[in-house]
Amino acid sequence: MAQDDRFRVQGGANLRGEVHITGAKNSVLKLMAAALLAPGTSTITNVPDIADVDIMADLLTRLGCSVNRNGSELKINVPETPGHRADYDLVRKMRASINVLGPLVVRTGKAEVALPGGDAIGSRGLDFHIKGLEALGAKAHIEHGYVVAEAPQGLKGASIELDFPSVGATENIMTAAVLAEGKTTIENAAREPDIVDLGQFLISMGAKIDGLGSPVITIQGVKKLNPATHATIADRIITGTWAFAAAMTKGDITIHGARPQDLELPLEKLTSAGAIITSTEDGIRVRMDSRPQSIDVSTLPYPGFPTDLLPMVIALNSIATGDAIVTENVFESRFMFVNELTRLGAQITVDGHHASIHGISQLSGAPVEATDIRAGAGLVLAALVSEGETTIEGAYHVDRGYPNFAEQLRALGADVERE
Ligand code: UD1
Repeated sequence: MAQDDRFRVQGGANLRGEVHITGAKNSVLKLMAAALLAPGTSTITNVPDIADVDIMADLLTRLGCSVNRNGSELKINVPETPGHRADYDLVRKMRASINVLGPLVVRTGKAEVALPGGDAIGSRGLDFHIKGLEALGAKAHIEHGYVVAEAPQGLKGASIELDFPSVGATENIMTAAVLAEGKTTIENAAREPDIVDLGQFLISMGAKIDGLGSPVITIQGVKKLNPATHATIADRIITGTWAFAAAMTKGDITIHGARPQDLELPLEKLTSAGAIITSTEDGIRVRMDSRPQSIDVSTLPYPGFPTDLLPMVIALNSIATGDAIVTENVFESRFMFVNELTRLGAQITVDGHHASIHGISQLSGAPVEATDIRAGAGLVLAALVSEGETTIEGAYHVDRGYPNFAEQLRALGADVERE
């Protein structure tokens, strides 16, 4: 998986066939970090084969854990006292490394975690994470590019209200509060299915948590947690990506293992674009017979439309009939991807956090570059409906979130090479 790998896509395929959804990237990384909360061996199943899992495994190994992978099962053995420092060389590769902050500070009394880089989609502050841990009694500051949080006497439950329902901050506060003394409430908490999945893992470790999936989460701290076994929830963003792929390519894809309840709004939007979506025994089937109709979308925290599917929506609208307005409310720099899409001929103007898209009947292939995971996947979908050849540099971004993407596309009939 070299940094200069690219996808070479010949446009014109109608994707047809079956895919199987694996565990969610945005959940498994948090489950792995949460394993730090209990000495002993936790087991995580339904683990996707993506580069970010290897990065998190390296990070845990450096903290003194031993991590063993056997197919889609991961065993994490956590020592009585893990290390407390997450170095820049790993954290810079993956923002989710910040999820070790809460578990480390409550388990070891001190955490030093490099400030993450992560995807090029916006400034992505850490102020809510830090304020939350401070409310629980930690002393935190930033020093030489690291967040240093200390709580030698342990943490104490508190009432915390988030200014924005941040996924990462909710997770860090929750994974610290489970071992704090007394009760914590998180108001305006994130409600994403990934939060519910993490909370259920914590509960199986012995944590006391109420309100998962609602805006108010209540946690009653316990003295000790025990290792547990947990299956990672299905990836709703990959599910959404395949659903958009079927709709854009006049395809017919059966998505095994999909959880439509986690994607109500995107599937509703695809239906209004003209897709026919039906339930199957273990997932959904998405079909499309005609050119899609344009759809207006505003991204919002869950249960709103996920920001991670924004590139797919813009790609679909760029070949739809009619005009659309797409508004990004979560990450300010998502629209970097638009410049690449216009290289394929898409007609898009961006004004602040709104993009106006005039659909055209066909894009035309050109060399483009992926700037982050989801932008990369969106560009591949656009390439599939472009006339001629498109090369997409930065394939490694896509590896971070989509297991075997090129192979899966080929199995659905696309002409996609990885080089
Ligand atoms: C997670 C997901 C990401 C998804 C996002 C929103 C992972 C690994 N990543 O990212 O794929 O797009 O949720 O669903 O799970 N913010 C602050 N201060 C903070 C924390 C956040 O200002 O302390 C801002 C961010 O800059 C951003 C917004 O809040 O504008 C949302 O961020 P957040 O929900 O925390 O996203 P992540 O957890 O980083």
